[in-house]
Amino acid sequence: MSEGNVVVVTGAAGGLGSETVRALAQGGASVLAVDLAEEAVEQLAADTAGLAGQVVAHAADAADASDVEGFIARAGKELGPLSALFNNAAIEGAIAPITEYSEEEYDRVMHVNAKSVWLGMKYGIPALEKSGGGIILNTASTGGMMGWPGLSGYVASKHAVVGMTRVGALENAGNGIRVNTLCPGPMDTRMIWSIGEVMVPGDRAEQKKQLEATVPVGRLGQPAEVAAFAAWLLTECPEYLTGAVLPIDGAQTAG
Ligand SMILES: NC(=O)c1ccc[n+]([C@@H]2O[C@H](COP(=O)([O-])OP(=O)(O)OC[C@H]3O[C@@H](n4cnc5c(N)ncnc54)[C@H](O)[C@@H]3O)[C@@H](O)[C@H]2O)c1
Repeated sequence: MSEGNVVVVTGAAGGLGSETVRALAQGGASVLAVDLAEEAVEQLAADTAGLAGQVVAHAADAADASDVEGFIARAGKELGPLSALFNNAAIEGAIAPITEYSEEEYDRVMHVNAKSVWLGMKYGIPALEKSGGGIILNTASTGGMMGWPGLSGYVASKHAVVGMTRVGALENAGNGIRVNTLCPGPMDTRMIWSIGEVMVPGDRAEQKKQLEATVPVGRLGQPAEVAAFAAWLLTECPEYLTGAVLPIDGAQTAG
């Protein structure tokens, strides 16, 4: 399904990123897998070496302008004209009420989560224009559609991602570039267990119970099922699907 596609994925070594890289490469796409975690992203490239598409590891900071310019250029040079960009890197940041949340932490979370997406679009859109069109998918969260106590920096950054997606879609409507945002609910990855650990320190069973209670279908999302949706959006996204905020959340935001 994704043969001939050239896709850049940020946060590629993480739970959702790595499964998306795998799904894309299984479909034959060439993928530049970008992450701050150098060893982990190299390992991902090694683990996916037998798949139909090529995976190239690239260690970089998705919130640094020259790094972003660098990985967009590398994808074009080594893999071919860019067809899609998955702006997926993020951190959860501190978990504390606003009154106890530090200003430095707020700035850090906004910098990593919101600026990385803005930079991805800033440097990715011209590359996609050169390719004659393409797809940008930004990862927000259900935290970009609703509030979560204790996660002010994260929730602010994810609402920013939703807003930027809408601007990107409007600015590029009619030039063949679709810009959408994915809003996963709680997924079984490092990030959710880090949040769970603050909610109920040391008790994984109770963490699971409390996290699952926020989801009407009664379970966490599996990275592979969200990744399959992301890979489809990154390769098959219809022309008419742009500017969309797409929850995949077990009905968490349906009520
Ligand atoms: N896990 C969840 O429950 C959940 C829910 C909703 C949305 N999300 C979003 O899904 C995306 C993926 O998260 P995940 O669950 O896979 O978490 P994860 O922590 O497993 O993966 C995040 C990856 O991003 C990388 N990263 C962080 N900062 C970076 C930077 N500046 N430059 C490059 N790479 C950087 C990390 O090294 C890590 O590999 C994130 O945008 C997250 O906010 C996650």
